Formats: sequence, C-alpha cells, structure tokens
Amino acid sequence: MEYTQLGSTGLEVSQLCLGCMNFGTGEEWMLGDRDTGIDIIQQALDMGINTLDTANVYSRGESESIVGEAIEGYDREVLVLATKVFGPMGDGPNKQGLSRKHIIAQAEASLDRLGTDYIDLYQIHRWDEHTPIEETLSALDSLVTAGKVRYIGASTMTGWQFSKALHTATVEGYERFVSMQPEYSLIARHEEENLLPICADTGIGVLPWSPLADGVLTGKYDRNGSMPADTRGETFERVRERLTENAWQVLDVVNDIAREHDATPAQISLAWLLHKPVVDAPIMGPRTMAHLEANIGALELELADEEIERLEAPLTPRWRAEDSQ
Ligand SMILES: NC(=O)c1ccc[n+]([C@@H]2O[C@H](COP(=O)([O-])OP(=O)(O)OC[C@H]3O[C@@H](n4cnc5c(N)ncnc54)[C@H](OP(=O)(O)O)[C@@H]3O)[C@@H](O)[C@H]2O)c1
Repeated sequence: MEYTQLGSTGLEVSQLCLGCMNFGTGEEWMLGDRDTGIDIIQQALDMGINTLDTANVYSRGESESIVGEAIEGYDREVLVLATKVFGPMGDGPNKQGLSRKHIIAQAEASLDRLGTDYIDLYQIHRWDEHTPIEETLSALDSLVTAGKVRYIGASTMTGWQFSKALHTATVEGYERFVSMQPEYSLIARHEEENLLPICADTGIGVLPWSPLADGVLTGKYDRNGSMPADTRGETFERVRERLTENAWQVLDVVNDIAREHDATPAQISLAWLLHKPVVDAPIMGPRTMAHLEANIGALELELADEEIERLEAPLTPRWRAEDSQ
C-alpha cells in the first residue's frame, strides 16, 4: 500500500480509504452483520489501508462503534480515523446541525463510540444554513486546541459556502478545513464544476465519496431496469435515479476498457479516480470481503491518457444546486 499526504498537510493517508457506511443496520441495503463488518475492516487494515471514514449518523452511531471495536489492538499512531457531524442524531432541538452545542456533544459521543482519545479528521457533513460559520469554526477550533481533534474537514456544499468557510478561518485565525469529501465518480462529475477547482487552487485534500456511484460502476445493473437481489439497488431509490442513458454510455466505455485490461469495471472506475491529480484518496465502500479484495486491485492499474479521455468523453459535467444537499 502506498500513502499520500492529505492536501497540504503532513498527514499520511492510504491511497484508498475504507468507507464504513455499510457497516450497521440503519438501512436495508447495509451489511447488517456486525462481526462481518469488523472482519472486513480488519482485513482492510491488514492490507495496509490506514484511513477509515465513518459518521455519527451512519446507523445512528452503530458504524462508529463497529469501527471502534475493529481497531482495538491496532497501532493508533498509524490509523487515520475520520468521522463527521451534522445529520440528525435524534428528535428534538439541538439534535443536529453545526452549533457549538451539538458539535461538542457529538465529538464527545463519537470519541466514546470509537473508543479513542482523538479523532484524526473531524468533518462537517453538510453546510448548516442556521448556524453562522464563525460559530462552527470556533467550536471545531476549540476541539483541536483541546487535543480531541487533529484536523478538520468538510463535505458536500456549494463552492461559495466552502470559499466563505476558508476565508473566515483565515481572517479570524481559526483552524482551516484541510480536506473536502465531494461525491465523485465517472458518472457523477458535477463537482468538477463546483468544489474541485477550489480544492485544486487552495491545496485542499480531496476524498471522493461513492466512487462507484452506489455500485452502478461495478456493472451489476443492466439496461432492462430489473434490480438484482441482494444489492443496494433493490431498496435504495438513488441507484435507479443514477441509471440514465448518459450513465449507460459511460458504462459501455468502462466495460470495454475493463475487458482490455482484464480488470473489473469497479477497478477501472477506481483507477480513473486515482489518476485524477485533484484526488488524494477515494473512499471505497465494500459490503463484502470479496468487494474489498477485488477493489484493491485498482491500485495496480495504469490508464493511458487516451483511455482517460475515452472514459470522460460521454459525459459533460454540470453542477446543480441540489447536488450540494
Ligand atoms: N460525505 C458524504 O456525504 C458521504 C456520502 C456517501 C458516502 N460517504 C462515504 O463514502 C463511502 C463510500 O460510499 P459508497 O458506499 O456509496 O461507495 P461505492 O463504492 O460507490 O458503493 C458501494 C457499493 O458498491 C458495491 N460494490 C463495491 N465494490 C463492489 C465489487 N467489487 N463488486 C460488486 N459490487 C461492489 C456494493 O453494492 P451492493 O451493496 O449493492 O453489493 C457496495 O455496497 C461510505 O462508506 C462513506 O464513508 C460519504
């Protein structure tokens, strides 16, 4: 496994990160089985993946507690634990968002579930239009000062919001976001028109989420529209929404190039992300051990410039405000 520095920081993250959203029982399409989740995480760590991404909201804390159990006995200095705050953790006031009160309460709760003294990368999951960014940054800054968080990061938002956050941190002397988690895959390239140019310009590390577009880029779905059993597409409407004519055109090229390399469509799709200079480390989301072991193969693939052009040719990236929600 090779490691890369996250954005302009000295923090070393594995070229592929392990996304832990599938580990839990929050949705029908998730793995469900806790022990298998722990086995997959430990296998990833044993393969050299050192960066785990989770969130407080993933199965309302269950994913974090699975990660916490899985990392017991591993060298904490090597590990990069990334989690997030924003989404609802219950009903009633102050159970969500980016207020000082909620951030600090949730950071403590995440530390508890993860069974650790500090979070390496604490990310805001979305923009909170009800809380001034100064309050959010000041709360995050205090967590860094208290030694509970090492770096702060952000996820999906509009370009103006992210630019405002970076500018405010500079002007007010708060900790600055060092990373961005945008959705980014061969069939979801809208961030090329929104966040990615900002990240490239400011040295922000990029950790793409849903690099296989919820599994669509594995080639497991077909044009007849039926959803195979035991897939995310069976119960997650977003999968069906992804299956546009344009997506099929991209998939045709992915399948051709996969055949030419004797690789899988998933490996080609991950390799494309690994070849993008703006990307630091895609966050893959295996649900089975076989997914994990196959997807790691993407690290061995070399794509020629001409292949990258072919993969990108069918789609013209366009960003719409709803892409940032
Ligand atoms: N910041 C954010 O807002 C945000 C949002 C979403 C995700 N994330 C992060 O990004 C991570 C990855 O997201 P994601 O789970 O959507 O990633 P993804 O890789 O796009 O989709 C994962 C799904 O792809 C399928 N898959 C993966 N490898 C496969 C293989 N080799 N063969 C067949 N199918 C395969 C599986 O589908 P089946 O289950 O159908 O088999 C798996 O559940 C999450 O765990 C989370 O950490 C962040």
